[in-house]
Amino acid sequence: MILVWLNMFIWLAKTVDPSTKYRSDVEYNYARFCAGCHGNSGEGNGRIGRFKKLEPADLTDANFWRMHDDEQLLNSIRDGKDNMPAFHYYLNQKEQREILEYIKNTFQP
Ligand code: HEC
Repeated sequence: MILVWLNMFIWLAKTVDPSTKYRSDVEYNYARFCAGCHGNSGEGNGRIGRFKKLEPADLTDANFWRMHDDEQLLNSIRDGKDNMPAFHYYLNQKEQREILEYIKNTFQP
């Protein structure tokens, strides 16, 4: 199980294009840790998510945002949920909050 995740993160890390200039750490963190599943545009169509049929949440769906509050989403980012891995190993609390703000500002319709 651990190996599966390890592989996935090595693969995820490769999805970050080194020639891209990221405007902020949080943008970089999203590209590195989240986009593989949730996609660059947040629709849940990143290539890992698609390939493994994980069905990542569509972060551009207004209904999705209506149905979840910040606390709940932070819990999911920190501890994982179903097919989504826990990120407290990779991102500290401040970074988790920043990334939530980022996906809100970027993808919430
Ligand atoms: C390995 C694939 C994968 C990665 C990487 C991933 N997610 Fe997810 N994410 C999922 C899946 C699958 C779900 C749907 C979980 C469910 O609702 O059962 C999900 C759901 C979510 C949700 C909704 C949680 C909820 O409570 O319904 C949020 C918010 C989210 N992801 C944010 C992120 C952020 C931010 C990152 C990067 C730090 C990230 N995800 C990285 C697969 C992933």
